[in-house]
Amino acid sequence: DKGNHRHFMAKEIYEQPEVIAHTFGHYLDLTRETVTLPDLPFDLAEIDHISITACGTALFAGSIAEYWFERFARLPVSTDIASEFRYRDTPLGKNGITIVISQSGETADTLASLRYARECGQKTVAVVNVPTSTIAREADMVLPTLAGPEIGVASTKAFTCQLATLACLAVHTGRVRGVLSEDDEHRLVRAMMEVPRLMTEALKLSPEIEALARTLSKARDVLYLGRGTNYPLALEGALKLKEISYIHAEGYAAGELKHGPIALIDETMPVVVIAPFDRIFEKTVSNMEEVAARGGRIILVTDQRGADLAHVEAMQKLILPEMPATVTPMVYALPVQLIAYHTAVLMGTDVDQPRNLAKSVTVE
Ligand code: M6R
Repeated sequence: DKGNHRHFMAKEIYEQPEVIAHTFGHYLDLTRETVTLPDLPFDLAEIDHISITACGTALFAGSIAEYWFERFARLPVSTDIASEFRYRDTPLGKNGITIVISQSGETADTLASLRYARECGQKTVAVVNVPTSTIAREADMVLPTLAGPEIGVASTKAFTCQLATLACLAVHTGRVRGVLSEDDEHRLVRAMMEVPRLMTEALKLSPEIEALARTLSKARDVLYLGRGTNYPLALEGALKLKEISYIHAEGYAAGELKHGPIALIDETMPVVVIAPFDRIFEKTVSNMEEVAARGGRIILVTDQRGADLAHVEAMQKLILPEMPATVTPMVYALPVQLIAYHTAVLMGTDVDQPRNLAKSVTVE
């Protein structure tokens, strides 16, 4: 049932404030402002490495979580495409754990990676949306994402609920390892508790994004740029646009612009820059200047401070509320999804069932 939405994807985008509140409700103690995880089959204080593996959108959730585990728990993390991880003879040390992420819990390469990690003697954690799935059954521990059934082939609410679950695990790991203080935990939990409200605010950008989609639907290629956790979100934005609108899109770390993709930029090339104001915002402003100097059309997704500081010509701005850096990828995911959605609707594609794609990829 699509409710009063035209597509399942729209319904699932709009459900996010509610489902993420549900996911956080499962992993947070809202009164004590702490993370409460079920007992783990290993000691987080003893591990020395985390391997994260997944495919597609779930992989990008993993890449974002890598920044969190490194920052909050000072743990080295390697994030890998499941189809590469399984065949690479990746050495996995005795004291490492492997986290696999999958909406369906049936993705063939992700399942094979989980089995490989187990054969190497690693403890495994599965972040899955379907609790009865094969991956959920075979992992040593399951952290459900609680997004509810996701019907649209393009993953939306499962992605943000994966982020919510992984953020809770990363904060918990940081606490157990003594990197984060009790106060840090309270502060981060309070930030996470704000996410549903911030998402509701973000959804109000929809009419503006719908207008913007007119420009995007005429483009042949679109570039997405971001730094830090907004770099994997740029990759996710490009994937979303490709899969449902069939417009070619690339995601890049903003700092890589000069190392190649800048050659593509001309007046026909929209560049979506995902950049809330942060300590490296100025670096992103220089990247935008480089794009603007070549006539590229910038669509900046930012907050008021970022918008005030970015004096670049030929720019459209989507302005979100200010929020702590940790939660930006969850909230900024919504305009990014809406950009793909409205563009695809204008292109007249089959948004929920894009050509050549299956919801769950159970063959390699
Ligand atoms: O079910 P999974 O999360 O394991 O699926 C992984 C990818 O196939 C999936 O995220 C795919 O990239 C989506 N269609 C993206 O929207």
